[in-house]
Amino acid sequence: MSQLGTEIDATLQRAAQLAAEYLASHQDRSIPVARPLPPSELLAVMNLSLREQGRPFAELTSDMEEVLTHSVRTGHPRFFNQLFGGWDPASILGEWIAALINTSMYTYEAAPVATLMEVEIIRRMNELVGFEKGEGVFAPGGSSSNLMATLAARQRKFPHAKKEGHRAEDKPALFLSTEAHYSVLRAASIMGLGLNAAVEVPCDAEGRMIPEALELAIEESLAAGQTPFFVNATAGTTVAGAFDPISQLADITDKHGLWLHVDASLGGTVLFSNRHRQLMAGVERADSVTWNPHKLMGVPLACSATLMREPGVLRATNAMDADYLFHGKSDTCYDLGDLSLQCGRRVDALKLWFSWQAHGDSGFAQRVDHLFEMAAHFRENLVARDGFELVREPQSISVCFRYIPERLRSLTGESRRDAVSTCTTRVRAQMTEQGRFLLNYATVDGSPAYRMVLVNARTTEEDMTALLDEIERLSEDI
Ligand SMILES: Cc1ncc(COP(=O)(O)O)c(C=O)c1O
Repeated sequence: MSQLGTEIDATLQRAAQLAAEYLASHQDRSIPVARPLPPSELLAVMNLSLREQGRPFAELTSDMEEVLTHSVRTGHPRFFNQLFGGWDPASILGEWIAALINTSMYTYEAAPVATLMEVEIIRRMNELVGFEKGEGVFAPGGSSSNLMATLAARQRKFPHAKKEGHRAEDKPALFLSTEAHYSVLRAASIMGLGLNAAVEVPCDAEGRMIPEALELAIEESLAAGQTPFFVNATAGTTVAGAFDPISQLADITDKHGLWLHVDASLGGTVLFSNRHRQLMAGVERADSVTWNPHKLMGVPLACSATLMREPGVLRATNAMDADYLFHGKSDTCYDLGDLSLQCGRRVDALKLWFSWQAHGDSGFAQRVDHLFEMAAHFRENLVARDGFELVREPQSISVCFRYIPERLRSLTGESRRDAVSTCTTRVRAQMTEQGRFLLNYATVDGSPAYRMVLVNARTTEEDMTALLDEIERLSEDI
């Protein structure tokens, strides 16, 4: 082997060894989830400045070690902070391959294998959703998929907008619940409709859109001379993990001829599970679905499928027919570039394909069932302890709660609310500082609540109990 070959070989082997050690070390609870440092201190510890002269490739493994040391361990079983987490060796392998083949998904010519993998995955996801003739494409994340759905809905209702932009008389209006992800609002802004075109529909106590409130909002919008065109239902809301009643919403969108999008970024994966699939009942009546394998399926970021019930919609919405790229060959149905918003596009489907090979449908079903069981267990454990209160009845893998330390339990009304709010945010800040757990909070019903997310199948009952103990302990000292 040449000198260069030997150095590359030895360095990649060392990198693979470091990667394996890193993943194995996630099981060691004595290693913190994070070692948070302010930017100035982190810059002092790591020299991140770029240089005039390059360095030997072999030296970069020491940088790799530093990156691993100072990054948040999202694969740690006590990382509860986000809707993604854990780690999956098969999809990590897929990520490596994606970097090795370094290609773009726009044409079959450039990405033959990855294109066929994506087509097969989209076929199967559509089958799980119940879109018989469906089509779809991968996007850089749930936000992008939601934007694509909104664009497709506009294409159907206002076909002139692609070329001319909106006409004064269009007055488009779209609907989402108060608990929907902000990317839907941002889609309204990006599309030039303006945030005022978005109508936020109230939710019930568990965070699900109220169908009667949607109906009313549509009628009010029509009476105000607007043109409703799009309803976003959420299957697995960002904070509480709630599932909007899709069938009931579909009755309303059918009646008014509106596009129904289901943002199943979080929840799509429940379709694998016989036990939990009913949460998505009626999804086959939707016009489009967003589904993020980088959330519940445990695939590394980013991996998001945009699914459409009717074929042809994506091309009609997004195609620009760039002749330098798409040469109109007989196999152009495999040129996916005109379906997407990007030109160059990562082969995100590849890591999912590897993961799917390793786990199969049944593995994903077991994963969903296990995560739901853990969330139920956490809920039981929590309500059995003094001072812990659920703020929403959990419907899936997120549990929102507060802890009221003993000294605050005699307080009532606003003073209690303020004191508990202060305690929650301070405990969370201290917990983050100490790095043994990472747990987020969100405003629920006007004040902060902890949001526990169960997405890592390696989290144990002990981890969950340890978190509650930690909250109790830190709350006493504040
Ligand atoms: C319901 C929902 N939709 C969309 C998104 C956005 O997904 P992404 O972060 O991949 O853009 C999120 C993110 O958490 C989400 O919870």
